[in-house]
Amino acid sequence: MSQGTVTGTFVLSVFTAVLGSLEFGYNIGVINAPQKMIEKDYNATWIERYGEPIPTGTLTSLWSLSVAIFSIGGMLSSFCVGFVSERKAMLVNNVFAFLGGSLMGMSKLCSSFEMMILGRFIIGAYCGLASGLTPMYVGEISPTSLRGALGTLHQLAIVTGILIAQVLGLEVLLGSEHLWPVLMGLTVVPTVLQMALLPFCPESPRFLYIVRCQEHHAKRGLRRLTGKQEVGDMLAEMKEEKRKMDMERKVSILELFRSPLYRQPIIISILLQLSQQLSGVNAIFYYSTSIFMKAGVQSPVYATIGAGVVNCAFTVVSLFLIERMGRRTLHMLGLGGMCICAIIMTTALALLESVPWMSYISMLSIFGFVAFFEIGPGPIPWFFVAELFSQGPRPAAMAVAGFSNWTANFIVGMCFQYVELLGPYVFLIFAALLLFFLIFTFFRVPETRGKTFDQIAANFQHHSAGGMMDMDLDMDLDKPSTELDYLGDES
Ligand code: GLC
Repeated sequence: MSQGTVTGTFVLSVFTAVLGSLEFGYNIGVINAPQKMIEKDYNATWIERYGEPIPTGTLTSLWSLSVAIFSIGGMLSSFCVGFVSERKAMLVNNVFAFLGGSLMGMSKLCSSFEMMILGRFIIGAYCGLASGLTPMYVGEISPTSLRGALGTLHQLAIVTGILIAQVLGLEVLLGSEHLWPVLMGLTVVPTVLQMALLPFCPESPRFLYIVRCQEHHAKRGLRRLTGKQEVGDMLAEMKEEKRKMDMERKVSILELFRSPLYRQPIIISILLQLSQQLSGVNAIFYYSTSIFMKAGVQSPVYATIGAGVVNCAFTVVSLFLIERMGRRTLHMLGLGGMCICAIIMTTALALLESVPWMSYISMLSIFGFVAFFEIGPGPIPWFFVAELFSQGPRPAAMAVAGFSNWTANFIVGMCFQYVELLGPYVFLIFAALLLFFLIFTFFRVPETRGKTFDQIAANFQHHSAGGMMDMDLDMDLDKPSTELDYLGDES
């Protein structure tokens, strides 16, 4: 970095894109704290309409629906990633955020839980799109040497959003009976900012050149992002990718599974997404307050915020480690650490009755669980998929990966309350899954650090033709990479 410059346009573009991730995180975290207040209003509406209090079962169903419909929105919309350019899609996507935020914010005033539920669905649709668009755009405009670190910013913005929502959701701030609609409506703030800034960000030059064949516009974008007049080497690398892509047919989602060329990377992509969600992290983020309560922690709400802080801090740690240690190593470290923490947590919970200070151990192991999550399984799957595919199949792959992620998210969100009946042993299920994903990563996931998109695709090509997959990164790191390496050398 010391050799080069980071241009204002580049910083602005990354910042603007991750505003979508911030909003995504905000809507994950926002629903936890004000639950009781919102339920009270659902009940008031029921009484107003039917003259009697809402039956408990109906209230539980309405609440579960309000929480879970968010992931259904995400599941459906994540499938639509890739129809238009990322920048345009981000701009259009803001309409969803406006609509969703307004419906949730106005639902109390209009005495309508239907508006709240519909709003959650629509904001979920926004988040589904943002979860695909942001990593794709950031990955495409980033120089190879920093692609991982910058890819982590998507997750950093998500966790920051979660933390902001957790803090603002405190009853003394916005999580109160009267102010919860403001808490819900606040989600439109990043939207307004993103809409105001997007017109100043260039389209992804890779998209312009490789998909739209607009060399002139692509060059202009590159110049703006790099601050350099001479962009020939970067264009040459894209040309090579385009040449190869033109030889392939257009890649549909079905094709991803049929073609031996893509089968391996798409399976890896799906399993990485599953490793993120089936690690059980959202069991913590959706139900932390009740988990901490059961673990005998004195102030569960503050412990939840503590988990949010740990979550943020370790995403920053990952940001600094990712280009040094590589994706594969960090992902394995994260999964292994989470597995150990889950076992410690189970032991501590099982001993809680006889050894009261075990509540501290269980709290610490939950913090450890979250910390290890953010070292690898949190940030890596999001940008790794964009790295595994070249420009042609990338949108279809992102759609499949996003859909897998949101489906698993939905399953954990819906089922955790039921499997919690297993008592202290519930996290052993996650420990077993984590072990499985660790073994899978060890045997199947290659390193992508420092490689161009083209080199990564070539590795899979070589493998599908019967060759050995190159799991090792160092061999390729010695080779100079030209792709978007504009932060490297200014001359
Ligand atoms: C990742 C996950 C998301 C989770 C968050 C926690 O972004 O995709 O579901 O809530 O990490 O930090």
